[in-house]
Amino acid sequence: MLQSSAYLDWNNSFDILNKAYDSSLFVLIIGPKGTGKTTLVRDFANSKDTKLESINFSLRTRESHLIGTKTLTQGTIGFDEGILIRSMKEGSILYLDELNAAEADVLLRLDEALDDRRQIILKESTGETINANQKWFVVATINPLTHVGTKELPPQLLSRFPIRIRLDYPPEETEFEIVKRHAGGNHDDSLKQGIKLANTLRQAAAVEELYYAPSLRETIAYAKLLDSGLSAKKAADIVFANVYGQWGNVEYQKVSDIITSMFGK
Ligand SMILES: Nc1ncnc2c1ncn2[C@@H]1O[C@H](COP(=O)(O)OP(=O)(O)O)[C@@H](O)[C@H]1O
Ligand SMILES: [Mg+2]
Repeated sequence: MLQSSAYLDWNNSFDILNKAYDSSLFVLIIGPKGTGKTTLVRDFANSKDTKLESINFSLRTRESHLIGTKTLTQGTIGFDEGILIRSMKEGSILYLDELNAAEADVLLRLDEALDDRRQIILKESTGETINANQKWFVVATINPLTHVGTKELPPQLLSRFPIRIRLDYPPEETEFEIVKRHAGGNHDDSLKQGIKLANTLRQAAAVEELYYAPSLRETIAYAKLLDSGLSAKKAADIVFANVYGQWGNVEYQKVSDIITSMFGK
């Protein structure tokens, strides 16, 4: 049986989020991809019965995505509110995903809203001052700097998020429990071996012996392939080994050898 895929709170993150929420202190979650950051925040918003407004930052994110854009319909000028303004007014939870991928000008504008006054001037349209609803709450995530394309967050922006949660890959037994929430099959031994493999690869990536660390997304995919009837070795090749082909044959062979030593030929 497939269990609910709700967040398994192995880190006591819910408690910290609750305390931060009650004190209107904004939260920064720091962790590599696939460690459950988005799932955690979604579940938290659900538990609060509060609307979640999400934005995923990239180099292409513009101020207008946050603030809004002028519209012109039948000769009338209007304003289509961006996600920041909307969430401030609603008092919803604003989720700023991968904030350190944003450009400096975007961060600067965000900073205006995040300071202690929690207000922003709509210089783009009417010039009015938007005051955030009392309940407004902001959670941001950043990837560690080792990730390609990530920049560090300017210190003054960091200080807007005084509550920090570090999420990393869980211990193997915990990862096993999490994966079991997503793939229900009866392959516990093969699954444990796949998780062990993932951790071996993560450790190798951490000391730069490999270019890539698999996340929980991969261990979940591996479990689903087991469910679909694939052998452990074949599933491991597909999910864990083949991706390293991106960095050439030598890199691929390193991982392929590890898999053979763990799963046999
Ligand atoms: N603690 C956890 N409890 C339940 N599922 C988890 C947990 N951690 C990771 N997952 C699962 O792993 C996958 C990646 O999680 P996600 O929240 O997208 O990570 P991130 O936002 O850090 O990249 C999702 O399928 C998610 O449900
Ligand atoms: Mg995410």
